[in-house]
Amino acid sequence: MLIFYDMKENLFDLSGKVMVMTGACGILGTSIVKYFAAQGVKVVLLDLERAAETGEKIVSEIKAEGGEACFLPTDVLDKAVLETNHEEVVRRYGRIDILMNAAGGNMAAATVPPDKTIFDLDVDAVKKVTELNLFGTIIPTMVFARTMAEQKTGSIINFASESALRPLTRVAGYGVAKAAVANWTKYLCAELAMKFGEGIRVNAIAPGFLLTNQNRTLLTNPDGSLTQRSHTILAHTPIGRFLEPEELLGTLHWLASDASRAVTGTVAVVDGGFDAFSI
Ligand SMILES: NC(=O)c1ccc[n+]([C@@H]2O[C@H](COP(=O)([O-])OP(=O)(O)OC[C@H]3O[C@@H](n4cnc5c(N)ncnc54)[C@H](O)[C@@H]3O)[C@@H](O)[C@H]2O)c1
Repeated sequence: MLIFYDMKENLFDLSGKVMVMTGACGILGTSIVKYFAAQGVKVVLLDLERAAETGEKIVSEIKAEGGEACFLPTDVLDKAVLETNHEEVVRRYGRIDILMNAAGGNMAAATVPPDKTIFDLDVDAVKKVTELNLFGTIIPTMVFARTMAEQKTGSIINFASESALRPLTRVAGYGVAKAAVANWTKYLCAELAMKFGEGIRVNAIAPGFLLTNQNRTLLTNPDGSLTQRSHTILAHTPIGRFLEPEELLGTLHWLASDASRAVTGTVAVVDGGFDAFSI
């Protein structure tokens, strides 16, 4: 099929779109929802009840800038709560164009510290971290993608990680879980496009190393100086520094917009070259 483009069309225009984001009150989520709201997107912040105060603060900041947003308490592992969230989103905004599955993260108990070995692995902790990162991606998608299937359009963006591409020492459970998220992303791309049309796309972002709460104890000493692990990471990163949360925005914008209309099933790596670097 030949597609003729209007060369003046702004393929990146997101104004009027509706976005649902899980884990929206986290470090990455906060900058992402503010950015998308500033692009004219109506953003629905989903996060745990305990994040409500942060969520409402982000919503009022977005509204003060003329944007549209709301916070809904959720639990990405509870389908019944997500169904209620879904009804509320459809009641308020009538559609869902973008779903970002960002709820997730590492758990200290699911790692293997230097003084332990694989034989000490806390299997229950590995199950928990897998449940949050993998099932916390699958279940919200089963709920919110229903509207995308009806619309025949939508962009789903999952949050993988560098550890999905290359197993990192110590981070045993999280790496397994994020590798599964990357695999699920590729599976789902075919499932949705082939059964519900090419307008529904599924991609993942794999952020490299950022200095955030989730890995602060691995990357910095109590006095704030960098750990040996940090020095090893930076020596393996061609751009020679950690990333900032805002450096994910352009890739997310591209994946959410029509600019990536033939892109589905990919894992977009934003890591300053870490994955590509050998020696
Ligand atoms: N920060 C990084 O360096 C980094 C790197 C690669 C990938 N990631 C991934 O990006 C995503 C966001 O990371 P972040 O640094 O913003 O993490 P974060 O811990 O700051 O935010 C995660 C958010 O998820 C929420 N959450 C946890 N359990 C939930 C549940 N059951 N239901 C709903 N919400 C829940 C938390 O309340 C929190 O607000 C995660 O999936 C993380 O694994 C982060």
